[in-house]
Amino acid sequence: MTPQSSGKTAWASVSWIGGLTVLMLALLSLPDVALAQQKARTVDDLAKMYDVASCKQCHAKVYEEWEKSTHARSLIGTGRTIGGFQGMIRAGLMGAFTKSGVKDVGDVKVEHLAQCFKCHLPQISDATDEVARELVKAYLDADRATLGKVNVNCLVCHNTKAILHKWQDGEPEKGVVYGSKDGPHPDKYPAMKNSVVMKEAAMCGQCHGTGPNFEFPQPSQCATAYGSYLHAYIPAGGTETCQDCHMKKDGKGHLMPAYRDPDMAKRAVDVDVEARGYKFLLKAGDSIPTAVVTVKITNKAGHRIPDG
Ligand code: HEC
Ligand code: HEC
Ligand code: HEC
Ligand code: HEC
Ligand code: HEC
Repeated sequence: MTPQSSGKTAWASVSWIGGLTVLMLALLSLPDVALAQQKARTVDDLAKMYDVASCKQCHAKVYEEWEKSTHARSLIGTGRTIGGFQGMIRAGLMGAFTKSGVKDVGDVKVEHLAQCFKCHLPQISDATDEVARELVKAYLDADRATLGKVNVNCLVCHNTKAILHKWQDGEPEKGVVYGSKDGPHPDKYPAMKNSVVMKEAAMCGQCHGTGPNFEFPQPSQCATAYGSYLHAYIPAGGTETCQDCHMKKDGKGHLMPAYRDPDMAKRAVDVDVEARGYKFLLKAGDSIPTAVVTVKITNKAGHRIPDG
């Protein structure tokens, strides 16, 4: 799903002019229309297709929270993500995956990153192999500036990933931000629509994993929090959603923090310690001071921790 085409406006705005002029202008605007429908050929193109700079003006608080989140650095993470990808590229694609067809950066195609970008950069499906190569080069050079240009942003969640059941609800539409209601929206995305999954754990589950991703020629497994939520937390009577714990409880909103946030860390476990001291008598005359310490740790998160 690509965001709105700016070409459309160009067609509409010339329709009232006389016959010949319309034709000329329409032809002139073709490259623009074509560009909007074409796949991105550079990381900058892809960043532009999913540009969210305008959102900041009206959703300042949400934007600032999101900007500090790991979603805004989904190719970098805390830094460890770069290392993980370097390993996948060097030791995997260019090493152990001898049938991947990749010997160096020039051989890389989008399909070689799909088993990771499914969640770390779903919009890669709107890009050409040239973008995949540019990103692989950026990984090998640990070029944070390039890796920081594209991420899991507002449009990935509020458009691309906002509809789960496409045979019922259709594909996400261009020019729409999906949230909790229908109506006009005062932005280059001119409409708001209700998304039935936005408040559900399944929304997050699309990227927070159920287990191995078997659909790829080289299956991957990374995040599995949603699987654990579904199979352990819910059957044990858990009732909260990811959004309840990660966005609402502490008012953290779009920061969506985890263990690096002190408030979240406090909610992670209950630690119950019981200690009893006594003297140990192995044989007559012995008196070895000993203690029995029973530590009971209860996981209070909605899934196993740590994950991934
Ligand atoms: C000119 C101001 C403006 C800009 C720019 C803007 N928005 Fe909005 N947005 C609004 C207003 C106003 C609402 C409606 C709020 C309401 O009705 O509660 C809204 C609502 C939304 C909603 C639905 C919220 C809900 O309660 O369900 C989403 C999602 C959203 N905007 C996302 C975005 C994104 C993403 C961008 C950038 C691409 C953006 N907005 C840019 C003003 C703006
Ligand atoms: C499009 C995919 C995608 C969706 C949808 C998504 N996430 Fe994430 N999330 C990621 C990726 C990728 C990372 C990790 C980036 C990294 O560290 O490399 C992440 C990281 C996180 C983290 C770790 C934060 C930290 O600071 O350690 C939390 C918590 C989280 N997401 C919660 C959520 C919640 C809650 C939702 C649903 C409202 C959600 N995510 C939806 C892809 C997604
Ligand atoms: C099913 C979605 C999904 C897939 C597929 C996926 N990841 Fe992740 N990845 C995530 C999420 C979500 C996080 C952060 C939250 C977590 O750790 O649970 C993450 C975190 C990471 C981290 C950071 C771990 C840390 O401790 O900071 C690395 C590294 C990583 N992924 C690399 C990869 C690589 C390389 C691939 C492909 C081989 C891949 N991921 C495939 C969703 C995914
Ligand atoms: C990882 C997915 C994700 C990303 C990225 C994301 N959102 Fe959201 N957003 C959500 C979810 C889920 C909700 C609904 C939370 C709820 O009410 O349960 C939401 C709610 C909202 C709302 C309405 C309620 C509120 O908190 O004000 C607005 C407006 C909004 N988002 C705008 C944005 C903008 C602007 C960006 C980018 C700066 C953004 N979102 C990035 C998932 C995301
Ligand atoms: C009952 C509350 C609760 C629910 C429900 C919940 N979480 Fe968490 N989650 C937590 C807490 C607390 C932590 C912090 C754990 C820590 O400090 O290690 C956490 C940690 C995480 C992490 C970091 C994992 C790591 O490697 O340590 C991710 C990612 C995450 N949650 C995603 C999700 C997603 C996605 C969902 C929904 C499928 C979800 N959470 C549901 C409370 C919850």
